[in-house]
Amino acid sequence: MKEQLIIFDTTLRDGEQSPGASMTRDDKLRIARQLERMRVDVIEAGFAAASNGDFESVRAVAEAIRESTVCSLARANPRDIVRAGEAIQPAARGRIHTFIATSPIHMEKKLRMTPDQVVEAAVAAVKQALEYTDDVEFSAEDAVRSDMDFLCRVFEAVINAGAKTINVPDTVGYSIPAQWGERIRTLIERVPNSDKVVWSTHCHNDLGLAVANSLSAVMAGARQVECTINGLGERAGNASLEEVVMAVRTRPDLFPVSTNIDATQIVPASKLVSGITGYPVQPNKAIVGANAFSHESGIHQDGVLKHRETYEIMRAEDVGWNANRLTLGKLSGRNAFKSKLTELGIELESDEALNQAFARFKELADKKREIFDEDIQALISDESVALDHEHFKLVWMQSASAMGDTPHAKVTLSVGGKEHHAESDGSGPVDASFRAIETVVTSGAQLMLYSVNAITSGTDAQGEVTVRLSRDARVVNGQGADTDIVVASAKAYISALNRLQAGPSKLNPQVGENV
Ligand code: KIV
Ligand code: ZN
Repeated sequence: MKEQLIIFDTTLRDGEQSPGASMTRDDKLRIARQLERMRVDVIEAGFAAASNGDFESVRAVAEAIRESTVCSLARANPRDIVRAGEAIQPAARGRIHTFIATSPIHMEKKLRMTPDQVVEAAVAAVKQALEYTDDVEFSAEDAVRSDMDFLCRVFEAVINAGAKTINVPDTVGYSIPAQWGERIRTLIERVPNSDKVVWSTHCHNDLGLAVANSLSAVMAGARQVECTINGLGERAGNASLEEVVMAVRTRPDLFPVSTNIDATQIVPASKLVSGITGYPVQPNKAIVGANAFSHESGIHQDGVLKHRETYEIMRAEDVGWNANRLTLGKLSGRNAFKSKLTELGIELESDEALNQAFARFKELADKKREIFDEDIQALISDESVALDHEHFKLVWMQSASAMGDTPHAKVTLSVGGKEHHAESDGSGPVDASFRAIETVVTSGAQLMLYSVNAITSGTDAQGEVTVRLSRDARVVNGQGADTDIVVASAKAYISALNRLQAGPSKLNPQVGENV
């Protein structure tokens, strides 16, 4: 009989700490619903104390999700715990995840606290969190560089205070598998009452070892892994959920654990997160990369055709490839469209939003013969961006380019409801359209990234464009989808401008002192 490995997904919190990956409440709800469909055990919905918007997002997820536990992060201070406790209050199962750094460098340089003060704050936070829920998790940030005796002292104290899950993070992605497994094993052996709690691991990928370290921790006794879809997360990211889950599932001969995850929901989740955050998935990424199950070389293809297990250790369909069924067509009506949205877990707030989305669907169906689930997801992302932050709107555009001629673009933009026309030359049609938009907006933002991906296969596929802009140390991503990639690019640029316009940057839980 295998023990359960708890899958704790932090895409909506640690994943959101990636530059520009900030998500709206509706984005978070859509991802949370997909995570629940995938049977993730714990969804870390955000850091409620970061801003009112974050508080509302965590609360909305707590209201919507019934099967998975919904968790909010909180630093070990009274205000954060109150915000987290209030945000998870509507959850069927709610957790508070409180943390404080325990390494000498973090305590001295970042927190400016003594070790005694850190222990005191950790214990007080756990006790206060228990006033809201009996499911309290404690993390020792930068555990990887913390002194072992001190870590044992902190963990003993928070277990006595009532924490039920003890999370050991490699915050800076510094460890290697043998060392990380040894650290977890030693903690479990040395900390009194270690058998009364679930040991958890949270690894970052700075050396490309986040998944390997997490699996080594599981071998050493960890029974919760904290991870994200596509390995999204600060810097090089977090351990990738799909890799952890499929390693455990593919090697039952090695792992004494199994997960609750419905693996067929992995690829849809990957596409959804990539589409919403604007972080494309590299083609050779394990499990969810476009090439993960394709066999280029003749020898491999021959082997797979004769007997698939010659080169395949997993089946593409088991992780949700090929799940992108043909969805709707030109003749599909409003009811069919609405049922499709429900099936995809998309709830539009008003009839007006539904009508607008349906009109966009009809336009797309005129241009594209076959419409897949991914097209609908992209269309809704575009639509919700337009509805949420409509300060800048693309009303019309035209671009012209021919070999040997200077590309030129004309745009009509609505800015706060008033229409403006502009035009510009550029080095290509995309550059010309961005320049034309800038003559109206004069944002002063710097373009940090521009990328185009085809949403589905075929030359009539929609192009999905991501634009990353930065201004005053703030970074935002914008997305746009269209069968015309110049239009998709202009939409993406405008969506990023709207995000820049929309709100102040929010608090990063791991930067600064514990207040
Ligand atoms: O990486 C880290 O240490 C974290 C903690 C807040 C758990 O994300
Ligand atoms: Zn982290």
